[in-house]
Order: sequence, then structure tokens, then C-alpha cells
Amino acid sequence: MCGIVGGVGKLNLREYLISGLKKLEYRGYDSAGIAYAEAGEVIVRKVAGRVVSLDAVVPNNIHPSVGIAHTRWATHGQPNSSNAHPHQSNNGLFTIVHNGVIENFRPLTHQLAVRGFHFASETDTEVIANLLERFYTRSGSVLEAIAQTCEAIEGSFACAIIFKDEPNRLYFMKKASPLLIGVCDDASLLASDPAPMVELTDRFIDLDDGDYGFLEVGKVQIFRNGRRIKPRFVARNVDLYKSDLGEYPHYMLKEIEEIPSVIKRLCENYFDEDHFLFNESMLECLRKAKQIHFLACGTSYYASKIGAKYLRPLGKDVLVSIASEWAYDPYDITEEPVFVLLSQSGETADLIRCQKIINDRGGISIAVTNTKGSTIERKATYSCLLYAGLEVAVASTKSYLAQVCFLLMLTGALRGDMMVMADIDRLCESLKDIIARKEEIHSLARHAHKVTDAFFVGRGLDYLASMEGALKLKEVAYVHAESYPGGELKHGPIALITQGTLVVGFVSDPEVASSIRNNFEELSSRGARMVVLSTASLQMPGDSFVTKDVKPYLASSALVMVSQYFAYYMALEKGLPIDKPRNLAKSVTVE
Ligand code: G6P
Repeated sequence: MCGIVGGVGKLNLREYLISGLKKLEYRGYDSAGIAYAEAGEVIVRKVAGRVVSLDAVVPNNIHPSVGIAHTRWATHGQPNSSNAHPHQSNNGLFTIVHNGVIENFRPLTHQLAVRGFHFASETDTEVIANLLERFYTRSGSVLEAIAQTCEAIEGSFACAIIFKDEPNRLYFMKKASPLLIGVCDDASLLASDPAPMVELTDRFIDLDDGDYGFLEVGKVQIFRNGRRIKPRFVARNVDLYKSDLGEYPHYMLKEIEEIPSVIKRLCENYFDEDHFLFNESMLECLRKAKQIHFLACGTSYYASKIGAKYLRPLGKDVLVSIASEWAYDPYDITEEPVFVLLSQSGETADLIRCQKIINDRGGISIAVTNTKGSTIERKATYSCLLYAGLEVAVASTKSYLAQVCFLLMLTGALRGDMMVMADIDRLCESLKDIIARKEEIHSLARHAHKVTDAFFVGRGLDYLASMEGALKLKEVAYVHAESYPGGELKHGPIALITQGTLVVGFVSDPEVASSIRNNFEELSSRGARMVVLSTASLQMPGDSFVTKDVKPYLASSALVMVSQYFAYYMALEKGLPIDKPRNLAKSVTVE
């Protein structure tokens, strides 16, 4: 994972780099570091932990010409300050930050060590800095050294590089990890995503795999396969990358409460009074497809499961696979499925691997992402955006509801059924009601926050939705939470129910309401402490939280919002770092 940011030119580089890193912390927050050139020196500062600790050790009165910075999600080596980036080559000429994984770093390290290079960290990154030094010593050209280093290393990398003797230039190289350039009048910038740059520019250049080059003020040079290529400028809606907390204590809370407006914006983008606005040729592809195959990870995987339920009644064979599994066993039942790649970030490494397999086979893919310009968005046959706005909290909330509503609208478009729009409107009313009553959920969490284990149970759509509820509780409240279909409990899990075991039950599907209620009875009689989330028409005395009625096929999504709040308040009661839970990162850019 990791986030990188860099800049050269006449701007307050300290402010840009530190605030940029804060915006990239969703990519990892194990350590942070900065390097900048000033008065002929390259100064490096790094700390274990968050950017805020780095901010405290970087002097305020610096005036560098070029700078780079890094926030790390540790892959190789402990999250301490010696493994923190930036890393320097042995002679100090090259200073680099890196996002990605160098798969052949061990043999390369060995080859360099034999030639006398020494290594101060356990990372796979230092080898890049020392390869640059070695190739530069032979050719005397930094660009040549970068080209040769790109050839020598295997794996993924987005790197920003300061070359000590050229303090008005910022070098870069990229393969399989995200990196884009931002251009202003008096500075040139780069970062892992647009967020650090959007206050300064709306002119961006997307980089492709294999691109390398340098930035100066008013100058961008990009090379591919040894030849200079023309930069392709793209405009971005910078508002989509801006997000500040406002009055909220946490992004997770803010993002949950944005859900009704996110759904409204989604509807405006895909529906216009009396017709859907999806790409017609994409719809035609889906209509013709015998098989639709969803690929996704995490929350997006659970949203895909709901989408599959919506699409199957159209007579489609719909599969849902976890991207990291399918990537290494890319089976398909028919020869030509249409793949739907669902991803908030559009940068999840396992999904990118799947996309490469699909593209190499000449397959058709539809990317549904929240991130314009992301790798998955750019490399898909068709691309659809979720318009959910920047999601900062590591645990995904608003994106889940946007994904479910998107997939419902897509189903409506394929079926020619505009009634789904009215159903989504009613869902939004129910969601607003939940927001207004969030303190009721807080009180449930207050009584339950000491538990270490929980079960989430439901049947049908409720079971699929409860999987997302369990994931939220694991991610932010560190509660070991498992989701089970009600009917499966007696085949093993019920053995774990003892006095006081927390069970969160979902009941919104009338078809299975009576059977899931029976399961709740079985659990209660064995001592389970039930927290039942239900809908008005299915409510029973003693239910913990009852949502307004909406169409049954959407009702479980309202229960997901309740479970998002539940996880949030559990974490709050436990005093946990809600927006940045331990060991996690929002954008999982390593496999
Ligand atoms: C990480 C995040 C999750 C997210 C998952 C998939 O694990 O912490 O919130 O659901 O990645 O990410 P994607 O961006 O592909 O939806």
C-alpha cells in the first residue's frame, strides 16, 4: 500500500507535503517520512507512526526547492523509523519514496551487497535507491539509470526520486502502483491520488505502467520504452476529492450520514426523469451475456453479493468471486461472461490482477468504482462511477450503499423498470430516519461494547447484508464477528453460543422472517444476548431497532446502515482509532 507525494517549485512545500500525506494516510499509517533539498543538502526526517508525529519534527522555517514524502503500510520490515521511507542510496545521491512491492529484491540486494553496497533497512525499497546509484555510476545519466532500474526490478512501484545534484527537478517512475502528476503555473506535483493536489490544480496527467521521467517548474517530461511521449492532460472534478470533517468527530460518522445525499447524487447521474442514463452499448452487452461474473474484495464483495441477487431473476447466471481467489484460479462456466469489477478505490491490487487476466483474454469488463482515473476505471471496457465523494475512513460505509443502489438501478435499466427509483427514494427516507435516531443505536452499543465475539445472522438478503455488518464490527471495533445463515447455525456455530454471546439478527425479508425468528428463539434459549434489527411490518416485541418499511429487497441495506452505526459506536465506546483501525489500509495496493 503506502502513499507518496512530491513537488518541485515555488510553493510552500512543507505544507503541501505534510497536508498531502495526511490525505493519503488512508493508504497506510505505520510510519511517515519526508525528504527535501535545501542549500545543496538533502535532508531526511522520518518517524514510526502517524503523519502528525512527522509534522512535529519537521522544522517550520524550511524553504526547499524539491521535496518528497511517504506514509507507509508495512510490507517488508517492521513499522519502525529505520524502515520508514524515504531511503537513500549509499552515496546519498538518490533519495526515494516507494509504493509497491519489489518481488526480486532479495537476489538484487545480494548482487549489490557483493559489490560492496550496504543496507540499513529491512525494506524492499532500498534496493531501488542503490540500483539507481549503481546504474548512474556507469552511465552518468539519471534517466538512463531510472530506465535500467525499471528493467531490473520486478513487481509494482510508484517512486518519487530526488537526485541531489539537481535540486530543481523531481524524478519519478511507475509500474502497477498508482501515480499521477498535477501541473500548476509555478510548481509541478505528483501523488498517489489527486487528493493532495486538488487545492492547487485541476490539471492532471495520468501515468501508465512503464512511464518514468521528471518534473520541473513548467516542464514535464515522460518517457516510455526509452522514447519521450506527449503528456496527456486530464481534467478532474476536484470537488470529489475534497473532504473535511466539519463538525464531525470522525470521518466514519460523517460518511455514514452522507449516505442519503450520496444516493441522491447517484440517482441524478444515472436517471433523468423518465429514463436511465447508462451507456446503451454496455446495457446491450449485459442483455446478451449468459453469465455475469462479479469480482471484488471486502465491502465491495458483499455489495456484489446483493447485486447478484438482483440480477439473477433476469435469467442470468451470476457468479460472485473474491478477486484474490479468482486471480489464481480464473475459472468460468461459460466462455464469455461479462465481468463486473466493483471497487471503491479502483486500485485494489487483486482486482487489478483479475482485470489483466480478463484484458489478456480479450474479455469484457465493467468497472464500477468511486475513483475517476483509477487503474480499474481506466482499463475496463466500460466504466461507471459511484459519485460517492471521497471516502476517507478506512472502513467503507457510504460506498456500500452507493454500490447496492447502483446495482439495483442497473437491474432496473435492464428490466425496463423505473419503479426502482421510487423504491430507492423510500429507502433514503428510511435512512434519514435512522440518522435521526442514531442515539438509540449508540445506547445498544454502550451496553454491548465489552463483548469480544459476536454472530450476525439472517436469511436470504438479510444474511448477505449481515456479512457486511460483521465486517464493520471486526474492522473498527476489533470484535471477532462471524456472519451465518440462520439455517446453518445448527450445523456447528451454535456450539459456540453460551450465556451472553452477542448475536445481531437481521429481519427484513418477509419470506424468511418466521424461520429466522425460530433461529433467534433457539439462540436465546441457549443464552445468546440478541440484538434484533427489524423492519416495521416484521417487528416483534423486544426488537432492538426497527426501521421504517421499504421494499423488502432494499430493506436489508437499511439494516446495514444500522450495523455501521453499531460498529462505529462500539469502537467509540472502546476508545479505538475509528477512522484508521490497526493493521488496515483503505486502498489495498499489494496482493
Ligand atoms: C480494504 C478496505 C475496505 C474495502 C476493501 C476493498 O480492505 O479497508 O474498506 O472494502 O479494501 O476495496 P475496494 O476499494 O476495492 O472497494
